[in-house]
Amino acid sequence: MRPIVIAIDGYAATGKSTTAQGVAELLGYLHIDSGAMYRAAAWYLLQKQVRHIDEENLPELMSSFSLDMERRGTEMLIYVNGKLLRDELRQPEIGILASEVSGIAWLRERLIREQRRLGEKGGIVMDGRDIGTVVFPQADLKVFMQADIQARVERRYKELIAQGIPTTREAVEKELLERDQRDETRPISPLRRAPDARILDTSHLTIPEQIAIVTKWAEVLIYAPSPS
Ligand code: CDP
Repeated sequence: MRPIVIAIDGYAATGKSTTAQGVAELLGYLHIDSGAMYRAAAWYLLQKQVRHIDEENLPELMSSFSLDMERRGTEMLIYVNGKLLRDELRQPEIGILASEVSGIAWLRERLIREQRRLGEKGGIVMDGRDIGTVVFPQADLKVFMQADIQARVERRYKELIAQGIPTTREAVEKELLERDQRDETRPISPLRRAPDARILDTSHLTIPEQIAIVTKWAEVLIYAPSPS
């Protein structure tokens, strides 16, 4: 039995983080939501009243940005300059700014270095956009999650309403499509399926079903006899 690295990438609102967290709990692994790290940078900028990225001012604005991660069980808590951030990071405007921030090469490099450090010992499930392609191209298991747009809108809409964030289905659809487009077309680390990733279409799956499928794929690798 060996601790493996599981990379889950895919489109917004396909259930990546919830699936990754569920798989991590079943396997006793650590779940790292890389998107939350980009969202943390965006949250910090929003505190500084930045709504759109101006690359020239960014290094100075980010000079006092400090990101700390603390393991609690199978979860990773995120602190920005000492403040614990949770639901704040799910705000739609943070998602949009995160997707802008994530196109900045030096900031990406900084976060990717941190992601690799967190995963170096294995026993992790990391979800994002470039985990199987850039962060851990040698990951033991790569999953690429997709779902049709109606299913994704419905899920994200319900999630936001449940968190007390007022929105409409139209606004959610616009936000998801805008981010997908930006994530797929940016020059660095674009959202792309790794050639060796397994596709998981979640349009008609429930969360427990998604978790069960990925866990089964992982267990086959974890319990495989090691090559002699
Ligand atoms: O949960 P959802 O899929 O809506 O978004 P997320 O995973 O929290 O990611 C927010 C944004 O961060 C994405 O739209 C990407 O632009 C960016 N991101 C990225 O560039 N690379 C990653 N590994 C993870 C997120």
